[in-house]
Amino acid sequence: MTDNGEGLRLGKDLVGLKDLSREQILGILDTAEPFKEISERPIKKVPILRGQTIVNLFMEPSTRTRISFEFAEKRLSADTVNISSSGSSVQKGESLVDTARNLEAMRIHMVVVRHGSSGAARFLADRIPSNVINAGDGQHAHPTQALLDLLTIRDRFGDIEGRRVCIVGDIQHSRVARSNIWGLLKCGAEVAVCGPKTLIPAGIEDLGVQVFGRVEEGIEWCDVLYVLRLQLERMQGGYVPSLREYNRVFGISSSRLQQAASDMIVLHPGPINRGVEIDSAVANGPRSVILPQVTNGVAVRMAVLYLLAGGQPEFAESAKGEDK
Ligand code: CP
Repeated sequence: MTDNGEGLRLGKDLVGLKDLSREQILGILDTAEPFKEISERPIKKVPILRGQTIVNLFMEPSTRTRISFEFAEKRLSADTVNISSSGSSVQKGESLVDTARNLEAMRIHMVVVRHGSSGAARFLADRIPSNVINAGDGQHAHPTQALLDLLTIRDRFGDIEGRRVCIVGDIQHSRVARSNIWGLLKCGAEVAVCGPKTLIPAGIEDLGVQVFGRVEEGIEWCDVLYVLRLQLERMQGGYVPSLREYNRVFGISSSRLQQAASDMIVLHPGPINRGVEIDSAVANGPRSVILPQVTNGVAVRMAVLYLLAGGQPEFAESAKGEDK
């Protein structure tokens, strides 16, 4: 922890890492550390959020984020309700804000929202008094994903400062790339992106990011190779000639990794398209920290929930005593 003053406190909501300082980001990672151990206990439950009611409002598909928020909430003893678009009145045309206001009328404390529209989390946060946590909004941001990625990098290397991270793939449509770029740069990492020209946003260098045209250059340069899925559901046109061609030019295979540093690690946010952006031998191989990323997701989300509920970073260790 670099500071124990007001500067570490989060505001009402967590919408994106762009809004947070380096100290706040590192403060969340530090707060996640003591929460890791709770998931290793035989009884994975502490009373930290007892009495808090949290709604998980998932308007887009999700496996990792939805389930790890749910585990984080349950392990902190919050009461939780899950809502998805299918089976709710959203299917009858109810708006996001009307849904949230009706939930508020039932006296809730927090909303975790995933939505297909960029800006949906901020829109909601500005309109309801409950804490809002962005679990991924359109192409905009996925802050808890980037936080768990930062924690995974720090676990492996001891520090994020000075690490070289190359993000490969569909940068254009990726909220994960955007949140990681903001988070990594704030924490002092060097960041590069690599992918087909059609999937690299114009002017990305202005953020302080290098661009590699060939994936081999990125692999030789980096300590961390962050592989992204092709977001086929967000692509309207022919961004790549074919998935096979994409795999041939940018796919991460064991033979491509022969030029990598011996301690280079491979991250992927999931879901994986094996044989497209990453081969199974790499995803399952010794450099892969894809499953440790998922494990860290629970601790990071526990930390975010704890801090937004008013918990103090410096008290996280003492707060995690056994349930009584
Ligand atoms: N990484 C991620 O957001 O995965 P899900 O879509 O399964 O939540």
